[in-house]
This record gives sequence, C-alpha cells and structure tokens, in this order.
Amino acid sequence: MIPRHDPQLKAFASDNYAGVHPEILQAIVQANGGHQIAYGDDVYTEALQQVFQRHFGDGARAWPVFNGTAANVVSLRAMTAHWEAVICAESAHIHTDEGGAPEVAGGIKLLTVPTPDGKLTPELIDRQAWGFGDVHRAQPKVVSISNTTEWGTVYTPEEIAAICAHAHELGLLVHLDGSRLTNAAAALDVPMRALTTDAGVDVLSFGGTKIGLLYGEAVVVLNPSAATGVDYIRKTFMQLSSKMRFVSAQFEALLSGDLWLRNARQANAMGRRLAEAVSRIPGVTLPRPVEANAVFAILPADVTERLQKRFRFYTWNEATGEVRWMCAFDTTEADVDAFAAAVAEEMRA
Ligand SMILES: Cc1ncc(COP(=O)(O)O)c(C=O)c1O
Repeated sequence: MIPRHDPQLKAFASDNYAGVHPEILQAIVQANGGHQIAYGDDVYTEALQQVFQRHFGDGARAWPVFNGTAANVVSLRAMTAHWEAVICAESAHIHTDEGGAPEVAGGIKLLTVPTPDGKLTPELIDRQAWGFGDVHRAQPKVVSISNTTEWGTVYTPEEIAAICAHAHELGLLVHLDGSRLTNAAAALDVPMRALTTDAGVDVLSFGGTKIGLLYGEAVVVLNPSAATGVDYIRKTFMQLSSKMRFVSAQFEALLSGDLWLRNARQANAMGRRLAEAVSRIPGVTLPRPVEANAVFAILPADVTERLQKRFRFYTWNEATGEVRWMCAFDTTEADVDAFAAAVAEEMRA
C-alpha cells in the first residue's frame, strides 16, 4: 500500500494526532500469530495485572478499554449508584469533550465547578458537595479530577492528597482522569503512584493512546471497595475487546520498561521549548503556565487563520483568540523550531 499521508508532517493540534511508537508496534507484532483465548483470558492480559501493580501497588487491578471516554464512563458508573453524582471542574473532559457520554451512556449526573486553572481544591469541591440526604438533589458521590488538566496544568501529589483527604472525609470517592498521567508524573519527576495510589485516589482512567499506543486505555481500580461490577459494566458499555491480547501487549511494552517516561519527557520538553520560543515573539501572549505538553497562546485572529493553513491546531476560545498547541512523544526539536518560526513569520506579516 502507498502511504496516503506525509509521514514527516507534524501537527500541534493534539497528541492524538501522533502515530504509534515503534516499540508498541513491535509488541503488537510479537503478540500476533497463533491463537489465544479471546475476551481477556489471554496470557498478555494476565501478565498485565503485574505490570500495573508495579506502578500502582499490589491492590491495583486493570481493565483495558478502547478509549478514554469509555475509561471515564465505565469508572464513574462503577463508582456510583443511579441516584449519585460526580463533582468535576467545569473544564473537565468528561463535561466538555465527551459529547455528553457520562450523561447519555452512563446516566451519570455531573456537578461542575468553575476553576481558574482547571484544578479543583477542597474549597472548590465544597461548592457542590452539599445536599446529602436531600431526596431532591442528585447525591454527590465522586470527585473527578484530571492530571494533567485540560488547561495543561499539573496537580502535585500534595494537592491530590488534600483533595482525597477532604473527599473521603465527606464520604466521597476520588476518580482521576489520567489520560495524560504519564505527562504529569514526568513533569514532576515522581512515580505515577505518588499522584494516585499514595495520594488516596480510588479509581484511575489510565491513558495509553496519547503516549504512543495504537489505541487502548485502562480502568485501574486502586481501592477495590470503590468500584463494583467493572467486568459487567465494561461489557454492557461495549468495551470488552475480543482480541484483548493486542491492547494488553501494548500496555506491557509501554509500562514494563521506561517507554512511558521517555515518551512523556519528550512531549513535555517540546512543550517547554515551544513556550520559550513563542514567548520571545512580540505580540504573542501565553495566558497559562506551561507545565507539561500543552501550550496555550493568544494570537490575532488573522494570524491564527494563516497559521492554521500551514499547521493543524485548534482554537480554544474564539472570543479571546486563545489557541492550544500540543506536543506529542514524536514531536522533535526541529518540528518545534519550524513551527515557532512560522508563528514569528505570520506575526510579522
Ligand atoms: C483529559 C482527557 N480525558 C480523556 C480523554 C480521552 O478521550 P477519547 O475518548 O478521545 O480517547 C482525552 C482526550 O483528548 C482527554 O484530553
């Protein structure tokens, strides 16, 4: 087959635009051939539990799913009864970018809180953690946070521990959308368990796709008493992969060595490089801290329009002219420098 795209062309739209890391592709090839038991009873999925336990502790159990929306919806459904609700930031992916899947597919009520930087705090949680025992109010049950956040910010282990302590005191559970947990851990140079298990997180949606997998995310239950029926919920939510060995083999390749960390460090380093380069361009404003692999910038609308003809990226806020640039594990210094040069050129034009 002749490739239908230019494999040298990089975008700054999303880490989902990247291809598959060669070591992951190799793992898929190695898992191929012969027959293996379907639906997760294969040797790769069996080995996967130990791989996740090495990162998240002996009590962790992982359920691979197809995508991040499903990891979130399956996690939250397993953590709540039908009358219970989830507190999250107004900017949370589950609220802004999942097409209403938590509500439509999961039947889960979201209670949102505006935040300055995408991060909840115990005080912000309290804005929605009320009405316990009131039959007229969906009962708060879970606090869901994202790390990294949708604004590219990073929660520290201390911030997450404070959220978990407060939530647990109120009888709430904590879910972490770790679509980019690898980036957060790499940014802080801490093990992933410092941001999850050790901080008191109950259930994690672990992201693989953005950090080099072909596809695959996982529901990781860290506190076994926090989620029930994950096996059944995953199936009824159409997330039980028959050829699960190929998802599990990818996770093994990502997590058994340091591939996750190498990839996350590269993406983050390119985010920093891009931020430094564009911050020197007169007229470009960076309205948010760059803490991992996302860079937000404010540009004149005509500049954005011309730039988007050369490189793909998304406008985040039409009204303010804010755009988002994402770096991926395969973004190189040359890619960043070429893009920053294009930004400078269009600003001068
Ligand atoms: C914070 C966050 N959570 C979850 C997801 C996963 O979504 P998807 O269903 O597209 O894999 C994304 C993807 O962009 C994300 O940014």
